[in-house]
Amino acid sequence: MSELLDLARSVAADAVEHVRALRPRGRVGVAGTKSSPTDLVTAIDRSCEELIRARILAARPDDAFVGEEGQDVAGTSGVEWIVDPIDGTVNFVYGIPRYAVSIAARRDGVDEIGVVVNIATGEAYEATAGGGAWRVDGNERTRLTGPPAAPVDQMLVATGFNYVPSVREHQAAAVGRMLPHVRDIRRIGAAALDLTDLAEGRLDAYVEQGLKPWDHAAGALIAREAGLVVTGPGGVPDERLVVAAPAASVEEFLALVERCRF
Ligand code: IPD
Repeated sequence: MSELLDLARSVAADAVEHVRALRPRGRVGVAGTKSSPTDLVTAIDRSCEELIRARILAARPDDAFVGEEGQDVAGTSGVEWIVDPIDGTVNFVYGIPRYAVSIAARRDGVDEIGVVVNIATGEAYEATAGGGAWRVDGNERTRLTGPPAAPVDQMLVATGFNYVPSVREHQAAAVGRMLPHVRDIRRIGAAALDLTDLAEGRLDAYVEQGLKPWDHAAGALIAREAGLVVTGPGGVPDERLVVAAPAASVEEFLALVERCRF
């Protein structure tokens, strides 16, 4: 496990350097769009994913690799890497300092390690299954324990929106129904950082629909290892729904999510 974590840390550090070196001042040029005209990709997203993929597969050629921007690679070792080279691409394009590299590895379908680094600020988070979640500042490591459980009407809830207009319309309506019942809503723009913010206690709960595995794989392990419940339909987060909250308040929060018709 520590071999996977060491590799993820070192590759994430290279990815951060790569993106910082290439990012121009001001706005970043857009190379294309994906699921809708608002779903952006830049040449730097692509080159960063190529770098991550090349480094991981050079070290572990038998592993599988799934990334946001490229072709999936099948493997034979039972280890699968799930990577978002820049989660929060719209923030990255506009220069809002909330975008991150997100690297997770699963063994035989079980999450084993997760590393998330805010590329703009250097804030770094990591977790191993059973080994806790940590914020890493140079040589200093701080264990993450999530927020204290709060009643839903005092929760600061993060969410996000899909890029497909019809999905957004549904999401906006659900968030509108939730807003009167919680402290407030945050739409920060990078799911991986929403989950690490939650692990750090900067938020009280999180709900989002339409996420892909690379958006939440690493952040979900970090949140779980910080003691939060990360769940979804049938108890497993997936594209239909990802919910995260402290164990003591997750039932109450899930009931609200259901009432708001997410
Ligand atoms: C997006 C971000 C955003 C979330 C979107 C994701 P991307 O990832 O995580 O917060 O709301 O659903 O697609 O496109 O910036 O990698």
